[in-house]
Amino acid sequence: MIKLTPPMGWNSWNTFGENISDKLIRETADCMVSQGLLETGYNYLVIDDCWALKERDSKDRLVPNPEKFPDGMKAVADYVHSKGLKFGMYSCAGNLTCAGYPGSYEHEFIDAETFAGWGVDFLKYDYCYHSPIIAGKYLYRRMGLALENCGRDILFSACSWGADETQEWIKETGASMWRSTGDIFDTWESVKSLTHTQEKLHPYNGVGCFNDMDMLIVGMYGKGNVGLAGCTDIQYRTHYSIWALLGSPLMIGCDIREMNDATKKILTNEDLIAVDQDPLCRQPVKLSGIWAGEDMVLYSRDLSNGDIAVGLFNLSGEKGVARFNLDELALPFSTGKTLEMKDLWTKETFRVTNSSFSKELEAYDCAVYRAKVVDQN
Ligand code: GLA
Repeated sequence: MIKLTPPMGWNSWNTFGENISDKLIRETADCMVSQGLLETGYNYLVIDDCWALKERDSKDRLVPNPEKFPDGMKAVADYVHSKGLKFGMYSCAGNLTCAGYPGSYEHEFIDAETFAGWGVDFLKYDYCYHSPIIAGKYLYRRMGLALENCGRDILFSACSWGADETQEWIKETGASMWRSTGDIFDTWESVKSLTHTQEKLHPYNGVGCFNDMDMLIVGMYGKGNVGLAGCTDIQYRTHYSIWALLGSPLMIGCDIREMNDATKKILTNEDLIAVDQDPLCRQPVKLSGIWAGEDMVLYSRDLSNGDIAVGLFNLSGEKGVARFNLDELALPFSTGKTLEMKDLWTKETFRVTNSSFSKELEAYDCAVYRAKVVDQN
């Protein structure tokens, strides 16, 4: 499958872990439609780990746990499809999944066929318990080949957490997205550390194979499987803005059946989604800015209509000032051009009148702009 922009959807892991069921998936599918998430682009509904029985059947096939999914997976897939959504599932390149259920190692073709038979459109493929003697690239290539031959268009979502220099070989495997980070947790420290570890990996992101910074924690407030301390709405907004500006897949991880207004507002910011989904998928530029410490992180990304997305992210717990020169956006003042900025959260617009720009940011806050190149007068 060729995926031209970062995949978007919902995944069960962050909030529900092993507590998944037919009922949860159907209710979530209903909410993805009724809350307008499908309409804003979130079209994949993905069941993560813990859906299977611990043993394969007599024909060596994976079996959904009948207590969680009494009508089987095809029925769940049919329901999800009936809502206009696409259906995703999870397996692993090892003997076992990370939570200890059967993995697809040496069952790649039979499992790909099983998934195809159920109507699966997306496969997240993890890396726990993998063979110590077969390199990851072969394990992912096997499943990539099995998916290409299973008779159904299934998006391959690799999840080897950036281990074993995944970036060097992932495009050999047919994956449309690849986890470029370790697991996210619902804490500010986690968001901050994933943002910093992404820095070296931007050159690998692009059309057809996207760096996946992991599922969103927006709206979890410390509840659920990876919910620890939780974050504030300002922190969630900054987390979302970073993922969008850097062009990560946007997979919601909270319980959308209980989403509050603040969460919904963050997840359905169409201006931010347009930046994430910009068809050019250009590599983001890390701006040096006018130094304000390593936790004042500035990025720009050139967009397909000539606009420039600019994100100023204060990752620290102290108020600070983000500053950069327009030269860094390839727009020195000598060009006679400047920028007309639209703040993508407040929706205010204004024009930059100097060769540099600065903005004061509260602790953990951000400002994200869509900037249009205009004449200086
Ligand atoms: C790994 C992955 C997570 C999740 C769990 C499931 O930790 O990185 O995203 O899929 O496994 O067990």
